[in-house]
Amino acid sequence: MVPSTLYTVEEARRLSRLRLPRMMFDYIEGGSGDERLCTRNIEAFDKIDLMPRVLTNVAERDLSSHILGMDTGLPFGIAPMGMCAIATPGADQILAREAARRRIPLGVSTASSATLESVIEQSEGYAWFQLYADPAVAFVDELVGRAETSGYSVLVLTVDVPISSFRIRDLRNGFGFPMTWGPRQLLDLARHPRWSLGTLAHSLSHGTPKPMNYATSSQGASFVRGSSRARADWDFLHRLRDRWPHKLVVKGVQAPEDARRIKAAGADAIYVSNHGARQLNAAPPSIDSVAPIRAAIGDDMPLIVDGGVRSGEHVIKAIASGADFVMIGRSAMYGLGANGADGLSDIIDSFAREASSVIGLTGKTRMNDIDANCLAGAHGH
Ligand SMILES: Cc1cc2nc3c(=O)[nH]c(=O)nc-3n(C[C@H](O)[C@H](O)[C@H](O)COP(=O)(O)O)c2cc1C
Repeated sequence: MVPSTLYTVEEARRLSRLRLPRMMFDYIEGGSGDERLCTRNIEAFDKIDLMPRVLTNVAERDLSSHILGMDTGLPFGIAPMGMCAIATPGADQILAREAARRRIPLGVSTASSATLESVIEQSEGYAWFQLYADPAVAFVDELVGRAETSGYSVLVLTVDVPISSFRIRDLRNGFGFPMTWGPRQLLDLARHPRWSLGTLAHSLSHGTPKPMNYATSSQGASFVRGSSRARADWDFLHRLRDRWPHKLVVKGVQAPEDARRIKAAGADAIYVSNHGARQLNAAPPSIDSVAPIRAAIGDDMPLIVDGGVRSGEHVIKAIASGADFVMIGRSAMYGLGANGADGLSDIIDSFAREASSVIGLTGKTRMNDIDANCLAGAHGH
């Protein structure tokens, strides 16, 4: 059955849930602890109102934006996610082509299921490389070199995973990297033949999905999901700043004090995130951290945010709250899981259509005009 156009993330989520083996779906959707932050990340957007404005000609509207030296077609991009290929075969290639077509940045995870070299090429330069301070020192060093050689102009250091978190779904499903296959996992695959056969067919021609930056490393490093990335400390950041000559972003920041210090260390942007509620479940919803971080770093430093963004309306609310650019995580994965390239494209289309409508109804025509003046209530009018 070919699904009709997906208009909402919820439709895509429901279809993904049917199509993906449960352990794969749970890895994508799950958060840490009791997962209440997953819901809070999304619901926090409901507390923000935008003020409708009238009697302005908003017939022509433009969603193009600019972030970290990149002119983009839309005010949002795709957050870095490890092992995207579990959502649909060839997901990294699909994401890269979509990034090129839309002129939006694609985050390429250290644990991506395609090599960082192939993604920057297929995305025609619309890719940012996301670095984890993996315990294998030489491997990390090599990755930074590979990112530079292959032409990345933005490096995103993720700092909110110093240790792995308590993810109950993955523990229950026995889901990890490397994967252990038992009767329970095999039954799950058998119950989802469309996914299993599609992945098998793709594997026969392209190899089984694996963290390709590790597989192609000359250091013989292997990806172990629960390994500590606690090596990412202030000293690591300073050394990375000295080494990386292009834009450096620090992802996973919520404390204003941390943001000030990261700015002082010479980073080019702060990426506000709670890892999509996958790390500290007791953290504040990510959108609630935007205004305090903006106040801490001032107006001259780019601020990127992700977490709970499920619509074009959310994108505009994030920008009105003080972000310069927005990234989407699960929304993209659900689109891929529901219907591959078409599903992803549907989700991005619906975000863009809604964002365009929302800016018009707030009396604006360009992304540069979206600011706190668009907010209604306590922070705005
Ligand atoms: C399946 C999955 C894998 C992820 N892998 C990474 C990763 O490798 N590196 C990283 O910095 N963030 C990773 N994240 C976090 C995302 O970059 C992003 O912060 C989060 O998904 C945003 O929240 P949202 O899913 O509610 O949009 C991952 C998120 C998901 C859902």
